[in-house]
Amino acid sequence: MERVEERRKLKDGRVIILRHLEGRDVDGIWDNFGEVIDEGIYLPIFLKVESDSERRNWYHEFLMLGQICLVAEDPYAVKNRHVVGQCTIENLEWDAAKHVGVLGIIIRSDFRDCGVGGFLIEYTKQEARKLGKEKLNLSVFPSNQRGISLYKKLGFNEVGRRPKQFLLNGEYVDEILMDCFL
Ligand SMILES: CC(C)(COP(=O)(O)OP(=O)(O)OC[C@H]1O[C@@H](n2cnc3c(N)ncnc32)[C@H](O)[C@@H]1OP(=O)(O)O)[C@@H](O)C(=O)NCCC(=O)NCCS
Repeated sequence: MERVEERRKLKDGRVIILRHLEGRDVDGIWDNFGEVIDEGIYLPIFLKVESDSERRNWYHEFLMLGQICLVAEDPYAVKNRHVVGQCTIENLEWDAAKHVGVLGIIIRSDFRDCGVGGFLIEYTKQEARKLGKEKLNLSVFPSNQRGISLYKKLGFNEVGRRPKQFLLNGEYVDEILMDCFL
């Protein structure tokens, strides 16, 4: 699969590079993930992945399964914090759903609302097509209005809702299901 690196200028003038995951990104990815878990309002996940071995194992297993992770990099940032956002396309477990990918995305808090998410999802859609995907699924909490408006703008439609699917901070939360044909 041809892997093209791309550059984008954000609304605030900063520049990011969009590219496929590399080994040097793994800590940045898990640190970003840990920060979103700490925020406690965006993901139905409580446990962070902090051990070096778990982080590396994820990297190798994720790629071995033929999945892709696209990263947005700030070329001026240092160490593993160069990763300012990440978007994964995971496979479903079903043999008959190989044409479908599940999209997950996280943008670091200091890079939100300046266009990274939009650029990264567009880039991810392009790379998912190259992988043979024809359709993407995602799920989102109703309170995540920023996410929902961005997903709709980029071609995702709400296709269902699972009421009270999660119990988060003592309150039940619905899961909104969204799909996009590529
Ligand atoms: C949701 C997320 C991926 C979006 O990425 P982002 O880089 O912040 O998004 P962008 O800047 O590309 O676009 C955000 C859009 O939402 C709009 N927006 C922001 N807050 C909004 C709100 N409360 N209601 C409606 N629209 C809103 C912005 O105006 C912008 O639209 P525009 O480009 O037409 O002006 C990112 O904010 C994030 O990672 N959030 C925390 C983790 C998370 O929610 N992950 C996804 C779980 S499903």
